[in-house]
Amino acid sequence: MSGTSSSKQSAFDRRAFLAGAAGSALVPLTARATAEEARAPVAQDAALPVGVTLRVNGKEKHLSIDARTTVLDALREHLKLTGSKKGCDHGQCGACTVLIGDRRVVSCLTLALAAEGQEITTIEGLATDERLHPMQQAFIDNDAFQCGYCTPGQIMSAVGCVKEGHANSEADIREYMSGNICRCAAYPNIVAAVKQAAPEIMKG
Ligand code: FES
Ligand code: FES
Repeated sequence: MSGTSSSKQSAFDRRAFLAGAAGSALVPLTARATAEEARAPVAQDAALPVGVTLRVNGKEKHLSIDARTTVLDALREHLKLTGSKKGCDHGQCGACTVLIGDRRVVSCLTLALAAEGQEITTIEGLATDERLHPMQQAFIDNDAFQCGYCTPGQIMSAVGCVKEGHANSEADIREYMSGNICRCAAYPNIVAAVKQAAPEIMKG
């Protein structure tokens, strides 16, 4: 009997100890977790709309967009400027090329939020009311497009290429236009167009 009583006692002691140990270990852990949660920065849901002001072709545009929106989607989906094309959406074809400031960028890989406050120029912003931009005219004169899908990106890239000073030879033009893919292979005519337009663009 005494053996049974003592084994009951020791089982109770063990349970009491384990319960106490678990309790004393859990309380500080829970308290610590709560304190850490309170200190942690609150993660914003990226899908919530954020306000952004873009300067596109000389005009300010106020948008409320998902923070993950690219410049290309802001242009096409929100501002209905569909001249810039979505070819690969992976930065590989150049169809979406626009100028941000003086730099040409693939707008499918550029976040709209990152472009806030900078001047974005798209194909729609090149011509004046009176006349086409010299590069647009040169593409027509040299028959430099076939289906035309890549053409807005080619023209924007060509303007950037000339302004960067990379239109001094055919080899130079080919090298610095190599990020723009044309599935119709209008390349020789594109090179001719860039050569034609370069002097006029450099005159300003
Ligand atoms: S759509 Fe942007 S590089 Fe192809
Ligand atoms: S003209 Fe068709 S893809 Fe270039």
